Amino acid sequence: MAPHSSASNPDSAATGSKNHPGLRFGLCLFGVGALVFGIFAAPRSLATTPKKLDFNRDVRPILDKCLSCHGHDPKAIRAGLRLDNRDGATKLLADGIQAIVPGHPEKSELIARINETHASMLMPPPSSNRFLSADDKAILKLWIQQGAEYKQHWAFGKPIRPAVPAVHLKAWPVKPIDSFVLEKLESEGLKPSPQADRATLLRRVSLDLTGLPPTPTELSSFLSDKSPKAFEKVVDRLLASPRYGERMAMDWVDQARYADSNGYQNDYERYQYRWRDWVIDAFNKNMPYDEFTIEQLAGDLLPHPTLDQIIATGFCRNNRLNTEGGAIPEEYHVEYVIDRVQTMSAVWLGLTTGCARCHDHKYDPISQKEFYSLCSYFNNVPETDIGEERPTNYPPLIKAPYPDQASELSKLTSQILTIQKQNELEIKNMETQAQVGPPTSSLPAMPELDCTARYILGEVPSALGMSVPPIQIVGPIKAGLGRSTGSFRTDDKSYINLGPVGDFE
Ligand code: HEC
Ligand code: HEC
Repeated sequence: MAPHSSASNPDSAATGSKNHPGLRFGLCLFGVGALVFGIFAAPRSLATTPKKLDFNRDVRPILDKCLSCHGHDPKAIRAGLRLDNRDGATKLLADGIQAIVPGHPEKSELIARINETHASMLMPPPSSNRFLSADDKAILKLWIQQGAEYKQHWAFGKPIRPAVPAVHLKAWPVKPIDSFVLEKLESEGLKPSPQADRATLLRRVSLDLTGLPPTPTELSSFLSDKSPKAFEKVVDRLLASPRYGERMAMDWVDQARYADSNGYQNDYERYQYRWRDWVIDAFNKNMPYDEFTIEQLAGDLLPHPTLDQIIATGFCRNNRLNTEGGAIPEEYHVEYVIDRVQTMSAVWLGLTTGCARCHDHKYDPISQKEFYSLCSYFNNVPETDIGEERPTNYPPLIKAPYPDQASELSKLTSQILTIQKQNELEIKNMETQAQVGPPTSSLPAMPELDCTARYILGEVPSALGMSVPPIQIVGPIKAGLGRSTGSFRTDDKSYINLGPVGDFE
C-alpha cells in the first residue's frame, strides 16, 4: 500500500529536497494502484523503445496476436509451432524450419512469414483479422537480433525494483522516480516543464491525496509558509487526513465490485459499508499489502480472527446476488464462485483467468482444469441467496458493530438480561397464583393499548366501538387456562378465523 510514514520510508512523499515538490508525491500513489493498473500501459512504439527490449512490455503484446494458433492450447496449435515459450519457438519444426534463430532474424522463418507479400503465406493469416504494424514487425526483428529472450508472464513473477536510469540533466531529479520520468522525457527529446506555481501545486497534491481541493485557509497558510519544508508539511497533513484513506479506497472498492445493492434485476439493498470502511481504515493505517491481501481473501481462516479480519473477507461477498424467484440455486451458486475467482485474478494477478472458464486460456498459461481448481477455494461460502422476499444481506452473516456500537450493544444486552430475569420471576409468581386461585380477578388484565378488537374465548366478541362477526374456529383447537382469561393451542392446520378484523398467520 502507499508509503505513509515520512520518517521511515525512503519512498515517502514527504521526504526529499525542496526543488521539485510537484514530482515527489508521485510515489504516494505507487502502491496498489501501480500494481493493479500500471500493468495495462500501452506497449511502446519502436521510435521510443529503449535499446534493450523488455519482453513483457514490448514483445508479448505482439506475440499475443499469434497465440490463438501458436500458444499453449494443444487443441489449437497450428504447424506444431508454439510461440509462447522459447523452446517451442526455437525448435526445429517438422518441415526442417526454425521459426526463431536467436540473434539471426535473417535465418528466422518468423521474420520471413510476417513480411510475406503473398497473402496465403502471411502471418498472422489475414483471415484471422489480426495484423502487425510496421513497428510490431521492427520490434520482433530487433528482439530476435537481441537474442529472443523470453520472460515469464509478469503475473507470476516477483516484482523487482528496476535500476534507476542514468539521465543527462543530473541536477533535476529529486527522488528516484524523477529519473524514470526524466529518462522518458529525454528519450522523446523533451525538457521538463518549469515548476508550477504554489497554488497549483497545492491544488494538485490535495486532489491527488484526498480528492478534495484545498480550502482558502489551507491555501493562504501554504502561501505564507516560507520554510523550505512547506510542501512536505502539506503532504504530511494530507496523509494524516481521514480523507486520504477514502480517496485511496475509491479505486480499490471499484475493482472489488463494491455496491450498495445486489446487482441483478430486483437490486435490493445490501449493507457492505463496514467492509468499505475497513478498506478506508487499511489505507489510513498504511496496512502492508500482504496483510491487506491475506485478510480480504481469508481473514476468517487466520488463527483467532478479530472482528476486523472477518469483516475484511467482505471482499469475497461483493459478488452480485440474484433474488429472482425462478433462478436456479445451483446455477447461481456457480456464478458467484466464478465471479470471486475472476475478481481475485483480475485485481491481484492482473490476469483474465475467466477466459479459462470455457476453454484453456488462449493467451495466458491457465488451463480450464486450473481455473476450476482455483474455484474450489471460493466454493466454501454457504450462501443462501435465492427467492427470498425483499432481503437485505444474505446469510452467512455476522454482527459487525462499530466500536462505539459494540459498547452500546453490550450495555443493552446486560439490561435485557436483567429485565428478562425480572420477567421470569413475575411469570413464575403468576403461575403459582394461577395454580392456587381462580384464574380471573386476581390476575392483571391484558393491556388493551391500540387493540382493534378484543376476543375472549367462549364469549361473544366484544368489539371496541365496532361490530365484529363471531370468530370462526377451523380445525381442532385445545382451550386452556391463560394469563388473564382463556387460552388456546393450535397445531399447524387449525386456526381461528377473525374475518375482516385482521389477517394474522
Ligand atoms: C489463425 C491462426 C494463426 C495465427 C493467428 C497465426 N498463425 Fe502462423 N500458422 C498458422 C497455420 C495454419 C500455419 C501452417 C500453414 C502455413 O505454414 O501457412 C502457420 C505457420 C506459421 C509458421 C511456419 C511454420 C512452419 O513450420 O513452417 C510461422 C513461422 C508462423 N506461422 C508464425 C506466426 C506468427 C509469428 C504469428 C503471429 C504474428 C502467427 N503465425 C499467427 C496459423 C496461424
Ligand atoms: C462462456 C464461455 C467462454 C468464455 C468465458 C470465453 N470463451 Fe473463448 N471461446 C468459447 C467457445 C465456445 C469457443 C469456440 C470453441 C473453442 O475454440 O474452444 C471459443 C473460442 C475462442 C478463441 C478461438 C477463436 C479465435 O478467435 O481464434 C479465442 C481466441 C478465444 N475463445 C478467446 C477467449 C478469451 C480471450 C476469453 C476471455 C476474455 C474467452 N475466450 C472467454 C467460449 C468462451
